[in-house]
Amino acid sequence: MTLFSGQQACDGTIPKRMQTMKILIRNIKALLQIDEQKRPLVAGKDMSELPLLENAFLFIDEGVIKGYGSMNDFAETEFVRFSGRDGVHEIDAAGKMVMPAFCDSHTHIVYDGSREIEYIDKIRGLSYEEIAKRGGGILNSAKRMQDASELQLVEQAMERLEEIRRLGTGAVEIKSGYGLTTETEMKMLRVIRKLKELSPLTIKATFLGAHAVPAEYKKRQGDYVDKIIEEMIPMVAGEELADFIDVFCDKGFFTVEETDRILMAGMKHGLKPKLHANELDYSGGIQVGVKYDALSVDHLEFTGDDEIKALKGSDTMPTLLPGAAFFLEMIWPPARKMIDSGLPVAMASDYNPGSSPSGNMQFVMSLGSVKMKMLPEEVIHAVTQNGAYAMGVHDELGSIAIGKKANLIITKKIPTYAFMPYAYGSNKVEQVIINGKL
Ligand code: NIG
Ligand code: FE
Repeated sequence: MTLFSGQQACDGTIPKRMQTMKILIRNIKALLQIDEQKRPLVAGKDMSELPLLENAFLFIDEGVIKGYGSMNDFAETEFVRFSGRDGVHEIDAAGKMVMPAFCDSHTHIVYDGSREIEYIDKIRGLSYEEIAKRGGGILNSAKRMQDASELQLVEQAMERLEEIRRLGTGAVEIKSGYGLTTETEMKMLRVIRKLKELSPLTIKATFLGAHAVPAEYKKRQGDYVDKIIEEMIPMVAGEELADFIDVFCDKGFFTVEETDRILMAGMKHGLKPKLHANELDYSGGIQVGVKYDALSVDHLEFTGDDEIKALKGSDTMPTLLPGAAFFLEMIWPPARKMIDSGLPVAMASDYNPGSSPSGNMQFVMSLGSVKMKMLPEEVIHAVTQNGAYAMGVHDELGSIAIGKKANLIITKKIPTYAFMPYAYGSNKVEQVIINGKL
């Protein structure tokens, strides 16, 4: 591998003006999730194998991973010349591990305020449905969204992005869906576009006009679906505001037939589907997602043999959101059965004000292990490489490979990588590198 070809002066030094941020991490206790083959995803049995290198170094330049290897060979590598040099930031990671930053492929972090009043109602015994009937739930956030300015929304979302970055997230998908009018859905998506400009995180935007039926369309849901298809999708696509299209395909929300129509319209406009499916019932959401080659189907509490069969052999990533299952006290998606059947599994936070007011992917890992019996290796794959696939960024993120973007976590001193899901509730992340910058 040649570094800086054409940039070196005769004496071998690099002219100051050409220097970009170089980082040399040495003495890494274990470099996790190495994948030189750049597999798009990891499925079935392979999920229980975590390729790693002990006592390693890693070199970053121009925002990407330029090389890594064993400390035992470091002195013989081309990277040794960067050690002790001006303009190279050196980190001694003795006792610490380095792994890809989390790819959180499902969030709703653009929202106004919070909904802890509903949370108290829930503690007092009201169900999610009862809270929604009282004007709470998605429609509550939608009401507040109408009045919030773009600036207010950007400021609040930036704070949440900063919070999740500190906890180890390097890429995040963000959905609209609290607008539910053309104008306010567009406002949400413009806010996400602004976040893409302002935040160093890799961000993907999803149009979720079909998140809930607005009150004024209660008796004529079909008209709202028509409006999504005829008015919203063309406008969203016209301004290139979204990468993906989502529908909440579940009992009491949108039917398979409606989902079918919305996805077909979205795909005509170049929007790849990602679905909310099978959270509340065997809704047919998984099957319709697979039919349209969705990038992912998400939630999946209600997944049986038919659903697993539909997912087998498809390119659709089953994505579990254990934070929502925990907070709403739902049944747990059958992660073990899915993986044992040969499927890949991703996990995401679902960060939103109603069903998962947390974007902490470390806690998501713990829930994966404790509640869904996933092994530490499996949860690590689920929140990195498979998460990257579920948001369409696996070519550049999700694993340690030369040429991939340097979005990395340096852990605190930890005894084993199993400590990550094991020590739930405490922050095991010491430093996060995004685009090769500390
Ligand atoms: O993913 N399931 C649908 N939508 C969100 C809930 C959003 C809310 O309650 O505000 C979810 O869990
Ligand atoms: Fe969601």
